[in-house]
Amino acid sequence: MKLNFNFNEDFNRKETNSIKWDSIEKVFGCTDVLPLWIADMDLACAPAIVKAINNRAQHPIYGYGYIPEEFYLSAINWASKRYNTLIRRNWLTTVPGVVPALNLAINAFSKPGDEIIIQPPVYFPFFSTIKNNGRVIIENPLLEKDGFYYMDLHDLKNKITSKTKMLILCSPANPVGRVWSREELEALFEICNKNKIIVVSDEIHSDLVYEKGKHIPFYSLNNDAANMSITFMSPSKTFNIAGLFSSLAIIPNEDLFTEFTHAILRSSLENLNLFGIEAVIAAYNEGEEWLDELLVYLKENAEFIHHYLETKIPDVKMRITEATYLGWLDFRGLGLSGDQLTEFLIKEAKLGLNEGRGFGVQGDGFMRLNFATTRKTLEEAMMRLEKAVKSFKLSE
Ligand SMILES: Cc1ncc(COP(=O)(O)O)c(C=O)c1O
Repeated sequence: MKLNFNFNEDFNRKETNSIKWDSIEKVFGCTDVLPLWIADMDLACAPAIVKAINNRAQHPIYGYGYIPEEFYLSAINWASKRYNTLIRRNWLTTVPGVVPALNLAINAFSKPGDEIIIQPPVYFPFFSTIKNNGRVIIENPLLEKDGFYYMDLHDLKNKITSKTKMLILCSPANPVGRVWSREELEALFEICNKNKIIVVSDEIHSDLVYEKGKHIPFYSLNNDAANMSITFMSPSKTFNIAGLFSSLAIIPNEDLFTEFTHAILRSSLENLNLFGIEAVIAAYNEGEEWLDELLVYLKENAEFIHHYLETKIPDVKMRITEATYLGWLDFRGLGLSGDQLTEFLIKEAKLGLNEGRGFGVQGDGFMRLNFATTRKTLEEAMMRLEKAVKSFKLSE
């Protein structure tokens, strides 16, 4: 398919205060790794966003921002266009990022000592936000078969006690790339609803789904699910504007909405970044065509890696993900320990990836590779990996 937007343009991100590119030495202990770790893209964001930010930047006063109604309307229209769901205006509030919002939800809906369920391997701040707030992490690990992950609902039922107050769902799932099916979500909802457990659904990756219409926002499952949940929605991963810290929470239940907004006010987190406001409106109002093409490019990137591994590095496996631009690479075939694998990737392959074990013990033997970069960079990454694996196999 011929794309109108050029995703092959290579940008030098060094010395742009990019955590991915400018903190390499600090994170990996050397300067020569190719960074394919933290989840932002090496691709330019939608031109409509650049234009909106540039327009606002022309005005030389950058005082406190005001969030206009247009901001909320753009999100409501986006959900209607992309998910065919209805969000009411009074369900929406803003949050300066989804991780801060997880902290707010934990504080609003549980107390120290309460138990909160997560489903590892999962995005590592799910662990730290629970722990840092003095709540107890309860793991309901995902089950894996041939690189495909699914929920263990039997185990979930067994893990619930009278102290279990919340479940944090990663939907779609980072790092395993699942888009949860209606059946899975309904079964999870039934269990949580029966036990009065609030579901906090982190849907930051929901726009990065490769099969149109597959993602089901938790609030849209049914009225009861809407009533016992809080969903986070964000253009930050979708449009590569994570550094602008502007996201939304969707809370249909009036009481939960009030408790959550009180938590926002207690932490003085009710404001958004001035440029974030402009970016969100432009992204949701004008970014659809760009996103559809981005998804084509990213899917081809995933297919490229999959094919490369299958044909040239068969000891390393990756299933083509259903969502996200994060590949979950299975290195167990090399038989290395966790520390050895980390050292092998940094020192031999010269690749800066996220350690799988950072997402829970279930991730041991895996690495997360961010493929939201140019095809050229991925070719370089695969060549580095192939060379390193070949010389490792020779030395065995
Ligand atoms: C599942 C998930 N939630 C939240 C975030 C980060 O959200 P924010 O930057 O808005 O705090 C990420 C980033 O990778 C993520 O993967």
